[in-house]
Amino acid sequence: MNFSKRVSRIEPSKTLQVLSKVREYKQRGFDVVDLGAGEPDFETPRHIREACKLSLDRGFTKYAPTGGILELKKAVIETYEKEFGVSFDLDEIIITIGGKQGISSCIMALVNEGDKVLLPTPYWVSYLQVIKMEGGDTIPINLNVDGNFKLTLEDVKKNYIEGVKLLIINSPNNPTGSVYDRDELKKIVKFCVEKDMAIISDECYYKLVYPPETPFSLASMGRKYLSNLIIAGSLSKTFCMTGWRIGYVISNRELIKQLKKIESHTTSGPTTFCQYAAVEAFKGPQDYLRSMVDAYKERRDFVLNELEKIDNLKTYVPEGAFYVFPDIGWYIERGYWRDCEDFARDLIEKYYVGVTPGSAFGAKDHVRISYATSMEKLKEGLRRIRNLILTKMEEELDENRE
Ligand SMILES: Cc1ncc(COP(=O)(O)O)c(C=O)c1O
Repeated sequence: MNFSKRVSRIEPSKTLQVLSKVREYKQRGFDVVDLGAGEPDFETPRHIREACKLSLDRGFTKYAPTGGILELKKAVIETYEKEFGVSFDLDEIIITIGGKQGISSCIMALVNEGDKVLLPTPYWVSYLQVIKMEGGDTIPINLNVDGNFKLTLEDVKKNYIEGVKLLIINSPNNPTGSVYDRDELKKIVKFCVEKDMAIISDECYYKLVYPPETPFSLASMGRKYLSNLIIAGSLSKTFCMTGWRIGYVISNRELIKQLKKIESHTTSGPTTFCQYAAVEAFKGPQDYLRSMVDAYKERRDFVLNELEKIDNLKTYVPEGAFYVFPDIGWYIERGYWRDCEDFARDLIEKYYVGVTPGSAFGAKDHVRISYATSMEKLKEGLRRIRNLILTKMEEELDENRE
């Protein structure tokens, strides 16, 4: 079979590759600690599950209208009104199959063969692959651990070249956990408007931030910026609804019209009864969010504390999401491991701990540790990571002595 150029250009997600190795070892009965998954370990709250059952019993099992059910669009609009004091029209929003479909449809709607896209790096895996699929060229904006992986206007200006079509930003960030400075973000949006560039702001972790940070959306800049600004949201992480596949995009009505066209011919949108459950996620009790964020913070602090005990790792304090992204470059430079993939392979094969190699995110000297798992697993996982590194160093010392 001859496959299209479009599909031949892309690679499978490396984060999913780690997941499949973790699954394989689990099936073989090994005591695996999975610190690779980008998925909350908390159950979807009961009231949301109950709302889903009720919507099934009410017969919400037929096609939903293209673009999403009215109740859900209204619930998103009311939430943004309440949280950020800004009001959107119903034709400025579309409900999508998770954040992933929302973002990929936007890229599809905007990027032509040869178009340039500014991509802060490290980046979430799928941006790059979808840009490639559309034939776009990425211009990386390299961020590093010394700058706490924060994007500045200066970074954008330095990497901007005439004719760039799109900038993708993601704060709180996957894989770094970094939360960008609000004023800096606003300046970046204004710069992009000046240059007539589109900006996708992927805000799928916006409620998962640690004090003194508070939830923030660029939507708060107001409707007039929607000419260039695209807000991509998701219920997966904040409401523990990864498997429900519900997301949304807020932007100008012309873009939303294009996204609806894509949705109507490809997927017909998310499952109808899940959309009704999603209304409950927005309108029902929100108090569990606070305890969830508290639990994540406790775990983050624990992980940082444990990583500090390991020599020569460079790390920083992530302010959001549920990832830590240490720099293991010191060990790679000295040949302990060939690269971060070699490190991740060694860790899963010898110690049955799954982490995601930074290369999946365009950062070859890093690994991503997800703390969306129990404290007990984190303790064990971090103990084994330390063991791997200490044992490797001892082996090298022995070899040098011989
Ligand atoms: C930064 C980022 N954006 C978007 C998504 C997509 O999430 P979903 O499609 O589950 O809404 C993810 C999921 O891992 C993510 O980490």
